[in-house]
Amino acid sequence: MRLLPRLLPLAAFPALLAFGLGAAQPALGQGGDPAQIIRDRREGLRAIGQHMEAMQALAQSRGDTRQALERVDAIQAFFRTFTDRFPPNTQQGDTRALPAIWTDQAGFQRAAAAMTPVLAQLRQAAASGDPTAFGNAVRETGATCGNCHRAYRAR
Ligand code: HEC
Repeated sequence: MRLLPRLLPLAAFPALLAFGLGAAQPALGQGGDPAQIIRDRREGLRAIGQHMEAMQALAQSRGDTRQALERVDAIQAFFRTFTDRFPPNTQQGDTRALPAIWTDQAGFQRAAAAMTPVLAQLRQAAASGDPTAFGNAVRETGATCGNCHRAYRAR
């Protein structure tokens, strides 16, 4: 009986370690069902794609750019946990994620990190109410999405 409390911390150690390594971001994918992780990230990305299309339409119509703020917030929130959504056990399955994500982790991290300043700029442009600035920021955002897709997503 006295052994149990001593063993428990040991048993918890790998989990703690795994958590500690991902401490900068929530450990989203770790240990979850791979098929579910793939479904979740694809669903999230589809929503992001819809936000982008809606913002492109808004830019084209030169509508009130502040209508895009909630969409930008949603995209920023998604990209805060982006790379956690690609644990190694999700390379195979119903996914277009390319193996390069895991063979070139540094490059994938860079491509994901490139979204941060671009989205900050997009948010600023949306808040400004200036349709030209907004249109340019939407275009730049789309280009940054495309940079990652070219290298890390199958066609
Ligand atoms: C750092 C890399 C990266 C960035 C940045 C990125 N994506 Fe992707 N995207 C991917 C990968 C990888 C997939 C494939 C995911 C899968 O199939 O598991 C994907 C898939 C998608 C899909 C298809 C989802 C489906 O139905 O399966 C859409 C839509 C999409 N991305 C939109 C966007 C948009 C819009 C942006 C920019 C706002 C963006 N992505 C930025 C890597 C990225």
